[in-house]
Amino acid sequence: MASSSFSFFQILSATTTLLLLLEAHQASSCFSAIFSFGDSLQDTGNAAHMFVNSALSNPPYGTTYFHKATGAKTFVVPGNLPIGCIPAWLGQYRSDKPSDYDRNGCLIWMNNFSEYHNNHLQTELDRLKGQFPNVNIAYADYLNSGIRMFSNQAQFGITVPFTACCGGNGYPCNATGPVCPNPLNHASWEGFHPTEATYHAISDGIIRGPYAIPFLSQKC
Ligand SMILES: *[C@@H]1O[C@H](CO)[C@@H](O)[C@H](O)[C@H]1NC(C)=O
Ligand SMILES: *[C@@H]1O[C@H](CO)[C@@H](O)[C@H](O)[C@H]1NC(C)=O
Repeated sequence: MASSSFSFFQILSATTTLLLLLEAHQASSCFSAIFSFGDSLQDTGNAAHMFVNSALSNPPYGTTYFHKATGAKTFVVPGNLPIGCIPAWLGQYRSDKPSDYDRNGCLIWMNNFSEYHNNHLQTELDRLKGQFPNVNIAYADYLNSGIRMFSNQAQFGITVPFTACCGGNGYPCNATGPVCPNPLNHASWEGFHPTEATYHAISDGIIRGPYAIPFLSQKC
C-alpha cells in the first residue's frame, strides 16, 4: 500500500509546476520576471506531508506560497509529461505485450493516465478563467509537446530516449554516481526527470508551436 501510494504520488507530482509571469508593462508582452512553483522545484506541502522526517520535510519543501495575494495577472500551468516514456516507469511496469507500447516505445496506459490528469486540470483551469476573467491563465501542453519529441528524436538530437543519464546499473544518481558523457542526447536525467535537452524540445513546442500559448509567442 505504502509503495503503491508512493508511486501514485510520484507519477502525478514529480514534474508538476506552475509558472507565474510578471508583465514588464501593460503595452508589451515582455515579462520582467518568471516565478516557478511546484513539486521537484519548490514544494508547497505535499512532500512534507507524505514523507515526514525525510529530507523533503526540510525547507524549502513544505513552504507554502499560497493564501497570499501575489498580484500576478498571468499564469502558465503545465500539464503532466508523457510519463509512459520515462525510464523509471518503463522499468517498473515492463510488459511482455507489444500492444501495451506505442510506436515510440512508451507505455500507452501510462500516457493515458497523464492525459486523464491533464483533462481534469484543464476543466479546473476553465472554471478559474470564468471566475477570474481579468487574469491570463494558460495551459501548457507538456504531454503532446513531449510526445512530439519522442516521435522526432533525431530532430531534437536525442539518441538515448529510455536510459537515464545520471546513475543507473545499480548506482544512484548522486554527487559521486556515474554520469553519461553527453546529457544532450539523453531524454531522461535520472530516470524520473527530463534532461535540459528534453525541456528544450518541450519549451520549443510551447513557445513556437504547435502547442503555442499566444501571449508567450508574441515578439517583445
Ligand atoms: C488510451 O486512451 C485511448 C483514447 O482515450 C483509448 O481508446 C485506449 O483504450 C486507452 N488505452 C489504454 C491502454 O488505456
Ligand atoms: C552515492 O551513493 C553511493 C551508493 O549508495 C554511496 O556509497 C556514496 O557515498 C554516495 N555519494 C554521495 C556523495 O552521497
